[in-house]
Amino acid sequence: MSTDEFGTRPGEETAILPTTFDAGLYFIGRLRTPWTARSDCPKNGLQSDALCTVEVDPAFAPGLRNVTGCTHLILLYWMDRATRGLLVQRPRHADGPRGTFSLRSPARPNPIALAVVALIGREDNSLRVRGLDCLDGTPLLDIKPYYASTDARPGAQVDRAGAEP
Ligand SMILES: C[S@@+](CC[C@H](N)C(=O)[O-])C[C@H]1O[C@@H](n2cnc3c(N)ncnc32)[C@H](O)[C@@H]1O
Repeated sequence: MSTDEFGTRPGEETAILPTTFDAGLYFIGRLRTPWTARSDCPKNGLQSDALCTVEVDPAFAPGLRNVTGCTHLILLYWMDRATRGLLVQRPRHADGPRGTFSLRSPARPNPIALAVVALIGREDNSLRVRGLDCLDGTPLLDIKPYYASTDARPGAQVDRAGAEP
């Protein structure tokens, strides 16, 4: 049972995190979505077709040039309300404990999330997209074009038969 919304459950393992960081990041904007509670959020971008807004800060807006040529984008974002120390987790959907790096959970040492979104349109510094799964106000780290030719792996599997537990 959870001790709080982002708390640790029995059987979970945590890391002793280093006291200093190895890199710095710039938040280039934020994601505007309909969701303000984690329980209301979709678990992945295919669970909702809600229209969301990518707000890019004016200082970074020149980087949006040519973006409207893309039908789909990869968004990288910072799960700012996630816990960072969990290395073994007990997700509600799984039978038992799972290593963080085998999960898409927002709780991880670097709480970076990604989504492939459909680009609906652009107005000035804002992009309208479908396919997000994050809380309103989630900081944006990066935008990249999605290349079906090199990014898609239609045969990829998770939990394939015979893999180590
Ligand atoms: C399972 S994660 C998947 C995120 C991303 N699509 C990925 O694969 O990296 C999505 C969940 O993260 C949680 N979440 C969303 N926004 C968050 C935020 N800003 N901070 C912490 N947790 C968040 C919600 O529970 C949401 O359902």
